[in-house]
Amino acid sequence: MPRTITAAVLREIGQPLHVERLKLADPGDEEILVEIEAAGVCHSDLHYLRGELAAPLPLVPGHEGSGRVVSVGPRTSGAIRPGDRVALLWRPNCGRCAQCLAGAPIMCELGGVQAKVGGLPNRAIKMSDGAGAVHHLMGVSCFSDHVVVHERSVVTVPEDIPAEVAAIAGCAVITGVGAVRNVIGTCVGEPVVVMGIGGVGLAAIMGAKLAGAHPLIAVDIDNSKLALARRLGATHTVNSREADPVAEVFGVADSGAAWVIEAIGHPQTLSAAMRMLRPRGTVIAVGLGAGGQTFEVPINELVQRQKRVVGSLYGSSIPALDLPAIFDLYRSGRLPLDELVGERFALEDISDAFGALASGAVGRSIIVP
Ligand code: APR
Ligand code: ZN
Ligand code: ZN
Repeated sequence: MPRTITAAVLREIGQPLHVERLKLADPGDEEILVEIEAAGVCHSDLHYLRGELAAPLPLVPGHEGSGRVVSVGPRTSGAIRPGDRVALLWRPNCGRCAQCLAGAPIMCELGGVQAKVGGLPNRAIKMSDGAGAVHHLMGVSCFSDHVVVHERSVVTVPEDIPAEVAAIAGCAVITGVGAVRNVIGTCVGEPVVVMGIGGVGLAAIMGAKLAGAHPLIAVDIDNSKLALARRLGATHTVNSREADPVAEVFGVADSGAAWVIEAIGHPQTLSAAMRMLRPRGTVIAVGLGAGGQTFEVPINELVQRQKRVVGSLYGSSIPALDLPAIFDLYRSGRLPLDELVGERFALEDISDAFGALASGAVGRSIIVP
């Protein structure tokens, strides 16, 4: 029996989200029904609301969530059972394509399929209103009290992990910590810069501290975010509205940064990131840019100084390995993820939560349906 759900719907670019009643079809083959417990408000959602990234409309946004499995559809693997707690993943992993087989499930070919059709990785669209289909965003759409997702779009979560922490672990945390864990590895005594201290950047600060970065320099335009970065492990902070971050980095680390994690996605900040590298240093671009945006890289910075720039999506992670590690680090106190959780909002007040994100609220805003 299809159920009636309450969800936030984006009907038109630039318009506020409408909180509406929709129909949600039963989970089909390999699909599961999840009751949402918490959903983080990520900057990538804002990109879709503003039309800076495109997706089929109408759609229900929200891709950073956690909840409890209510029921499972036919032909599920048995790995996920009713009652399990899960974190939702905005990239599926089919386990069969070349990228999955090569150990890069974040690059799974089905990720593109679900984005193109605005559905689940199997192309199913489970939500509808009186007029027709309502699309999924990134195969998740968790600004809703219930979702149907593909069983390969979740990772199970231990009972002792708070719902908010499980939610943000599935996007901001795995993206920021994963960029360190999976791209840098260790950086004991190496100068590391994190640009953009939102949910992703804060997680990167925590990860870089664990990996031994020193000095660890946080760059933002908001002093309250920089204060939190310092509390979580940054040894230096730069407000790039008040000082030139490139000069500041050279002031702290003589020859420049070994690593810069850019969690903003702007051409100017990426260019600055390249300039603050020491020879053989690496920029890790983790912030999504608006569709089609580019930035210039001086050729001889690459050649004569052997600088590198690499992209990292979703922390270049293997979620089934990275998330349990993140939960263990949280439990042991080494990743104080509660510090990343900001204000809680009811689903009805979701526009206020986006307002908080756009106006620079510290900590991740969380929707509690
Ligand atoms: N210089 C320095 N910091 C900046 C600048 C700038 N020019 N512009 C924005 N920032 C800071 C903001 O003050 C904010 O603290 O970048 C941070 C971005 O944080 P959030 O908006 O919370 O974004 P987050 O969800 O962490 O995502 C980071 O990754 O996937 C992308 O689209 C997403 O671009 C976003 C990035
Ligand atoms: Zn996100
Ligand atoms: Zn795959």
